[in-house]
Amino acid sequence: MEYLEKNNLYWQGKYYAPNVENFIFRMYGRILKFDYGIDGSQGESVFDFGMGQGGNLNFFHQLGFNVFGVDIARNDIEIAKKIMPEKADQFKVISPQPEPELKFFPEFFNSPEDGFDIVISIQTFSFLSNTDSNKAIKCIYNQMKPGAKIYVSWCGENHYYKNHATPLGDGLWEVKFNNGRVDYDLRYNFVKNKDDLKEKFKLFKPIYLDHYDASFREEGSEFRYTFFGIKE
Ligand SMILES: C[S@@+](CC[C@H](N)C(=O)[O-])C[C@H]1O[C@@H](n2cnc3c(N)ncnc32)[C@H](O)[C@@H]1O
Repeated sequence: MEYLEKNNLYWQGKYYAPNVENFIFRMYGRILKFDYGIDGSQGESVFDFGMGQGGNLNFFHQLGFNVFGVDIARNDIEIAKKIMPEKADQFKVISPQPEPELKFFPEFFNSPEDGFDIVISIQTFSFLSNTDSNKAIKCIYNQMKPGAKIYVSWCGENHYYKNHATPLGDGLWEVKFNNGRVDYDLRYNFVKNKDDLKEKFKLFKPIYLDHYDASFREEGSEFRYTFFGIKE
């Protein structure tokens, strides 16, 4: 797939994101801990799809969670391994092409009852077409325990990138612009609204559909929808 190669090339550069994002520690306190009593004390597993340098995973690691993650960016996975050397075997470089039947860590999860307790994926699904994001969601779903929780963020149509986007089909848009700070030529998938997001994650029982937003240098809204759901 040509678009996957283009996005892959982009992500082979470094994406400097060393720290936990505020919406992750807020989600932890407000949902995982408050609603479900999940706090890491039982060594619950957390898997991050598109983990980058592992800033979010390191937060969970320090709380006692057993952390796993994958990304297409080799440089970033190497940095995560240095930050959490004791978990280096649990971070992997994967192919950009999702495969529904792929098992990311067959060496750790052998029986059908095994699987992740928590899954997070922050600002990663936006880089996949509708067809490929469905494959990735199925792949992740297959590797979660019954009752496991998932928290995902996905770019909304009101994000300013949409002002620079031309439709390509299968949910993808060509996002091309240079604002002096960034020079982008990416293939991007925007979520229309909460119903659209719920539909994308229809394998899961939806619990909370929320959002976060920010703007810097008056460049425009960086709006993302979030989905919190359960594998029943
Ligand atoms: C905006 S960054 C977010 C990184 C990290 N989740 C965070 O919050 O710091 C998007 C990440 O998605 C990864 N990515 C892009 N396409 C991917 C794919 N097809 N499969 C897995 N990861 C992908 C990139 O390499 C990058 O690390």
